[in-house]
Amino acid sequence: MLSKIIEEALNQQVTIEAESSQVYLAMASWAEVQGFEGVATFMYAHSDEEREHMLKLIKFINERGGQARVSELKAPPTKFGSFRDMFEILFKHEVKVSESINDLVDVSLKEKDYATHNFLQWYVSEQIEEEALARTILDKINLIGDDKGGLYLFDNDVKQLIGNGTNSSIQ
Ligand code: FEO
Repeated sequence: MLSKIIEEALNQQVTIEAESSQVYLAMASWAEVQGFEGVATFMYAHSDEEREHMLKLIKFINERGGQARVSELKAPPTKFGSFRDMFEILFKHEVKVSESINDLVDVSLKEKDYATHNFLQWYVSEQIEEEALARTILDKINLIGDDKGGLYLFDNDVKQLIGNGTNSSIQ
């Protein structure tokens, strides 16, 4: 059985994952309109992954005797400046998500909820991979700079990164 404190903390993470999914969906749409199909495909897939992260939490909360909350979400931006800006936002976003996962782990230990602590280890590994992926992409973009040919190749290459940064034990 979840304590009220853990239930509330997990539900806050549900909202964070749902908002992440929305942010990447907005990025996908923006990239698609700019004609960067590869980046758009990557972002659509990433948005789906965030939804999976959210669903995994919802199921865990409900299975442990709590009730998952589906709440109102903040609207993401509609424009992202440049690709570098966009991936910079993505990287910073993932760092913030990692911080919230770490806070959750902290709460689970304080509450002596070892089942939740164990469940959260999946998210801890996932965040390491997601941050590493975002950093790799940012490094590539920084190398390319404003070179149009480079951006075209990058758009093609980025599709191959779909699924990287995904902890394979999902579900
Ligand atoms: Fe679910 Fe990208 O953190």
